[in-house]
Amino acid sequence: AYIKFDDSKVSKFVHENEVPEMQAMVNAANTELREGTGAGADFRDWLHLPSDYNKEEFARIKAAAKKIQNDSEVLVVIGIGGSYLGAKSAIDFLQGDFYNAKSKAERKGGVQVVFAGNSLSASYLHELEGFIGDKDFSVNIISKSGTTTEPSIAFRIFKEKLISKYGKEEADKRIYATTDAKCGALRTEVEAEGYESFVIPDGVGGRFSVLTPVGLLPIAATGADIDQLMKGADDASKDYVDTDLTKNDAYRYAAIRNILYRKGYVTELCENYEPNLRMFSEWWKQLMGESEGKDQKGIYPSSANFTTDLHSLGQYIQEGLRNLFETVIKVKQPPYNVEIPMDKENLDGLNYLKGQSMNEVNDKAYEGVVLAHNDGGVPVMTVEVPDESEYSLGYLIYFFEVAVGISGYLNGINPFNQPGVEAYKKNMFALLGKPGFEELAEKLNKELKK
Ligand code: PA5
Repeated sequence: AYIKFDDSKVSKFVHENEVPEMQAMVNAANTELREGTGAGADFRDWLHLPSDYNKEEFARIKAAAKKIQNDSEVLVVIGIGGSYLGAKSAIDFLQGDFYNAKSKAERKGGVQVVFAGNSLSASYLHELEGFIGDKDFSVNIISKSGTTTEPSIAFRIFKEKLISKYGKEEADKRIYATTDAKCGALRTEVEAEGYESFVIPDGVGGRFSVLTPVGLLPIAATGADIDQLMKGADDASKDYVDTDLTKNDAYRYAAIRNILYRKGYVTELCENYEPNLRMFSEWWKQLMGESEGKDQKGIYPSSANFTTDLHSLGQYIQEGLRNLFETVIKVKQPPYNVEIPMDKENLDGLNYLKGQSMNEVNDKAYEGVVLAHNDGGVPVMTVEVPDESEYSLGYLIYFFEVAVGISGYLNGINPFNQPGVEAYKKNMFALLGKPGFEELAEKLNKELKK
C-alpha cells in the first residue's frame, strides 16, 4: 500500500473481534456513500473528482498561475473555512515553513502566497498590507456562496488597493474569482466586471474542495505540480474501493475510530512530527469536525504538533482524562536532513548523538512517544506517507476524505452538510444591522442588555 497504516497500537483497547464485527456496518456505509442512498448524497462529487474534473478549466488554472508568477510578486488568497484551509495546508506541506521568505530563485519562480479574509482582525490586515508594501500583487477571491462576511470585507479592501495602484482596467485583470457557477454576489460581480473566474462544483462542499480550483490555483501559483497532486488522489480513489476491512485501510481507520468513539474515546488528536504539517491538521479538523459533529454527537477533532507540544500538551495526553486517541501523520522520508555535529568539549553532553541525523532522532522520539502514550492508556494509529511530494499529499487528502464519508455514515449522520455553521452568521448579521435581519436584531439586542 502507498500509505502505510499502522493500527497495532490500538490492540490494547480494541478486541480482535471488534473490527471484523464492523464489516457489515461498513458494507452498509459503503453502499450509502457509493450508491448515494445515504443522507447528503448530492455532495459526493469529490469522490470522482481526481479523474472527473474539468480539463479545460485545469489548463486555465495553470495559465493563470503562470500569468500571476510573471506579473506579481505576491498572490493574496482571500477565503475562509473550506475556501482557505486546503490551499494553506497544501502550500505549507509542499513548500515548507519559510517559503514566503525565500528569494524568487529559491522559490523556482513561484509567487509568494499570503492569506486574507480568514478572520475579522483589522491588525492582521494592516500587517499584511505592510508586508505587500509596493510589491506587485494579484488577488484570488474564493467563496462558494459569494456572500461570506470575512472574505467579502477583505476583497473590498484589496480591490480598492488594486484599483488605486493599477487603475480599474489593469486591476480587473489581476482579480481571479473562484465561486459558484451561477449563484451568489461574487458570481454577479464576475459577470459585471469580467474577472477571470473558476467554478466550485455544485456537488463538492467547502471542506472537500481542495482539489477544485479553490485549492489548485493558489497551489499552482507556488509552482507545485498539480498534475501529480491529482494523480495521487486518483490512485487513492482506485485503491480505496474494496469494502474488505483487511484490505482497505481508509475504511479500517473509519471503523476503528467508531469503535473507539463508542468506548468513550471521544477526542481524536491529529499529530505530526514536522512543523510544515501543522496546517494539514487544521484542514483535517474542519473535514472531520464539520462532517461529523452534529445531532449532538461526533468525535471532537483536535491536534497536537510534536515534538513541540510534548512540552505542553504532553502531560495531559499521558495522564489526563482517558478519552483521547491519536492519529499520527508520519512522513517516512522528509525532504531534508541535518547531521548532529561532534563537539570536543561536550559540555552539553550531546556527543552520544554525534553523527546521527535529526530525522533519526525524530523517529526515535515518535517511537518512544507512541509506546509511552499507549502505556498511559491512549490508543494510537499511524498514517505514514513516503514523502512530502504532491503525489503523497493528493493520496493523503483522498484517504481522509473517503474515510470521513464512511465514518460519518457509521455514526448515523449526514457527513456532507453543515447546518450548524449558519447560527452565528445570522446573529452577526443581525447585530451588524444587515437589511432583512431587523426582527432578530431586536431580539438579540434585548438579550444582550439583560
Ligand atoms: O465548509 C463550509 O461550508 C465552510 O467552512 C465554508 O467553506 C466557509 O464558510 C466559506 O464559505 P464560502 O466559500 O461560501 O465563502
